[in-house]
Amino acid sequence: MLILSKENILNLKKHPIVIAIDGTSASGKSTNSKLVAKALGYVYVDTGAMYRTFAWYCVQKHVDIHDDKAVAAACRKWKTSLECVEKNHLRVVHLLVEGYFPEKEIRTAEASAATSLIAAVPKVRDWMKKTQRDCIQFGNLVMEGRDIGTNVFPETDYKFYLDAKLEERSARRAADGVNENLAARDQRDSQRAAAPLMIALGAKVIDNSKMTSAETSGLLIAEIQKLFTANK
Ligand code: DC
Repeated sequence: MLILSKENILNLKKHPIVIAIDGTSASGKSTNSKLVAKALGYVYVDTGAMYRTFAWYCVQKHVDIHDDKAVAAACRKWKTSLECVEKNHLRVVHLLVEGYFPEKEIRTAEASAATSLIAAVPKVRDWMKKTQRDCIQFGNLVMEGRDIGTNVFPETDYKFYLDAKLEERSARRAADGVNENLAARDQRDSQRAAAPLMIALGAKVIDNSKMTSAETSGLLIAEIQKLFTANK
């Protein structure tokens, strides 16, 4: 567990800190981001859930997700709000659509496939970037995604990139009961023109193929602690 010095805590109060955790699908971003956020007392933001929520909304409203103009128009129209809630001793940001958080609906394989299509639309990415930057209103953040260190908060000093071998990531998804072509999704995420998945300049890369989540989050926290000391 990380213990912050008084000086560090004062520093953090002045300028909210964003810890950016990017990486491939099923590389352990969610589990480890939550563990890090809990250890630091930071607010956890799952940006993938935001993209998934918009994909779900488009499907609900019968928007043609292959038509970029129709998708961009839907993004201009939808009525959303951000809320920060406490869940299992963790503060989490939710994106609500007309007051509703579609927690379960966004996790299906169908939603995953639709998400990488709408996530390639530049107007959607602009909207997401603005909304994700607005999360700073809730305090210090651990934000996970694909473009947090490269595009959403490029100014942060705290950038991480998680990865694991494809077989290992596929096995993790299968263990969760989800059968998904991760290679195809990685390809779509890293080959789109707008803010593709890539390693941010200065990011610490962690391949956790052979690591437990306790080991991965322990390493992340140790690296963050080193950066806190260096940035004093
Ligand atoms: O992290 P996830 O699997 O819930 O993300 C779902 C999809 O959302 C992912 O395939 C790509 C997209 N995404 C993105 O393009 N940028 C982000 N910052 C987060 C997710």
